[in-house]
Amino acid sequence: MKKLLAAAAALAICCSVASCSEKKNDSQKTTSNTKKTIGIAMPSKELERWNNDGESLKSQFENAGYKVDLRFSENNADKQNEDIGGMLSDGVDLLLIAAVDGNTLSDTLAGAKDKNIPVVAYDRLIMNTDALTYYVSFDNLTVGKLQGEYVKNQLHLTSTTSEYNIEFVAGDEGDNNARYFYNGAYDVLKPFIDNGTLHIQSGKNTFEQVATLGWTTENAEKNMKATLASSYTGDTPIDIVLCANDSTALGVANALASDYKGSNTPIITGQDGDIANLKNIVDGKQSMTVYKNVHDEAAVAFGVCKQLLDGEIPTSKLAASFGDIKVNYDSESYNNGVRYVQSYLLVPYVITKDNLQLLVDTGFFKWDGENKYLEAAE
Ligand code: GAL
Repeated sequence: MKKLLAAAAALAICCSVASCSEKKNDSQKTTSNTKKTIGIAMPSKELERWNNDGESLKSQFENAGYKVDLRFSENNADKQNEDIGGMLSDGVDLLLIAAVDGNTLSDTLAGAKDKNIPVVAYDRLIMNTDALTYYVSFDNLTVGKLQGEYVKNQLHLTSTTSEYNIEFVAGDEGDNNARYFYNGAYDVLKPFIDNGTLHIQSGKNTFEQVATLGWTTENAEKNMKATLASSYTGDTPIDIVLCANDSTALGVANALASDYKGSNTPIITGQDGDIANLKNIVDGKQSMTVYKNVHDEAAVAFGVCKQLLDGEIPTSKLAASFGDIKVNYDSESYNNGVRYVQSYLLVPYVITKDNLQLLVDTGFFKWDGENKYLEAAE
């Protein structure tokens, strides 16, 4: 019987992967899980990526016959606690959560543990709770490293005799990922800061000093304008803004367009591949973005949740079962303050104006009528 169940689970995962590699083809509905409901909590609708994640997850579960309760929490940790509390009272069978603030959910999730409801952290680790058993994300440190290495390679930092001015723009302090992104980038660039090749004119060199509340474009724009006003007056050029993601990169690009007097175009990094930022990349206003295929992330999350719902225990074996999607199983990197959480980590990659076609190849983007900018493929 156990073997049969395992085979059924494996088949279901294969189906999910197949549907993913066939891009947007609907997979066939199964009827066995129609009674189970998945509670999916996403941070906000404000950012393009969470809408994509939410929709992708919803359709994966619904196509497999589950019911889905998908809620977005307006980037508000209190609202997300209420939303999750509501899902628990409504009797969901599993929680899949991308936390607004990973430090605030412990009490609510104790309620899930009492009811034996599995909790899977999606993209962002949930801290200080023993209710959490699995984590599905991208390799967050690598995201930051890719951004740092891009700067290092573009400016030939190991061999150059020039000096450059750099500023860092990080994510929200309540998002556990944000520190990983910052540290990943900072560690790559630190030797060049230490040897005087890179200067941080603002002096802001800690994560806390450069964090952006809520990851919003508006806050990033406001902070960048303040930095320009305080540290880039006269003819001091700014050469690099190491932005942790695309929403903050957009704010920085706006601030530079309105308030920067220099004639150079600074390198701006990003993450996510948001449409507005891909346009900026074509227009030369942003240099790169680190792309994380959230549809693949959703497929892996589905695979983990499916096993849990079937009463199986996801192990390292599962990581190898996602076909084209490269996933690393890691039980030693992400400690949530209570224990190391078993993690399934996908692999991010760099997108610049020279390889935008790679995004079209995913099936989720298409060229516009003039073959100039990318749009979301319907
Ligand atoms: C991170 C996520 C990024 C980015 C950011 C802002 O946790 O990994 O992809 O979207 O949040 O929401």
